[in-house]
Amino acid sequence: MIKACVIGFPIKHSRSPMIHGHWLKRFGIEGEYGRVEVRPEELREFLGTLPERGYAGCNITLPHKEPACNYVQNLDDRGQRTGSINTVYVRDGQTFATSTDGEGFVENILWRLPGFSFAGKTALILGAGGTSRALIDEMLRRGLARVLLANRTPEKAEKIAKAFPGKVTTVALAQLDKSLAETDLLINATSAGVADAAKISVPFAKLKQDAVVTDVNYVPLVTPFLQEAKAHGHPIVPGLGMLLHQAVPGFALWFGKRPVVDEDLYRLIARDIDPGYAG
Ligand SMILES: NC(=O)c1ccc[n+]([C@@H]2O[C@H](COP(=O)([O-])OP(=O)(O)OC[C@H]3O[C@@H](n4cnc5c(N)ncnc54)[C@H](OP(=O)(O)O)[C@@H]3O)[C@@H](O)[C@H]2O)c1
Repeated sequence: MIKACVIGFPIKHSRSPMIHGHWLKRFGIEGEYGRVEVRPEELREFLGTLPERGYAGCNITLPHKEPACNYVQNLDDRGQRTGSINTVYVRDGQTFATSTDGEGFVENILWRLPGFSFAGKTALILGAGGTSRALIDEMLRRGLARVLLANRTPEKAEKIAKAFPGKVTTVALAQLDKSLAETDLLINATSAGVADAAKISVPFAKLKQDAVVTDVNYVPLVTPFLQEAKAHGHPIVPGLGMLLHQAVPGFALWFGKRPVVDEDLYRLIARDIDPGYAG
């Protein structure tokens, strides 16, 4: 029996077990994917004993994505560049780690908008947390020309800009008009409205007419940010698909088969979030 799990604190709301459980059933694999609550002070010990605990690997979620980099034996290039990991796998008794958030983000856009290309485009990102860094890293790999980065705490955006010299320009959150007019892809990568009541908004009337708008948050499935973008006529890409796509590489590393994200899976998880989802 191959065993994997997701660790975080708190962890009970994680939908990763539903995603991996769906694929395990589909492939007929005798495997198990559970949730394990790991407190920050337990993280080092848990990851240090992952192989002895019989796990093929695990996903890592809040608040462990950044500190976990210090407690795995082998960190790949993505993990080193972004300083954040969400996937750990065991090989020959050693722990290896990577981040699949950037890949999940990009694959979600391409899944929903198959003709889309990142090459030569300008993205405006709101938010400068660990997720923002992962998105920037992957979009630049896919040929994105430049990133305009706005954050409530400007110093955090500046720190990220320094890590991607010549590619990321910081802009003030309160003065986005000029940036919006140059934007091909607008991304909400803040947690605004998730952890607190404040929702994030921009003057959508200034956004380039055919710009695509996406949100990494997926509760509700179409966030107020996306609803506003849609009302202004922009193509939107909801964030749930990112969660599904970021799970693909982990499943392949632990269980040996590469799953496909399809509408059946999307419906399953979407209905768990919103029982009225009719898609
Ligand atoms: N769809 C997926 O698969 C997926 C994957 C990964 C993450 N996510 C989601 O992505 C979001 C960001 O994750 P993270 O790990 O990057 O979080 P993080 O490191 O805590 O960063 C949060 C960001 O949101 C900003 N922010 C929070 N509240 C705000 C407000 N009221 N107004 C303006 N900005 C605000 C913060 O600004 P300051 O720097 O000023 O505090 C910071 O830039 C989370 O909601 C997470 O659940 C989704």
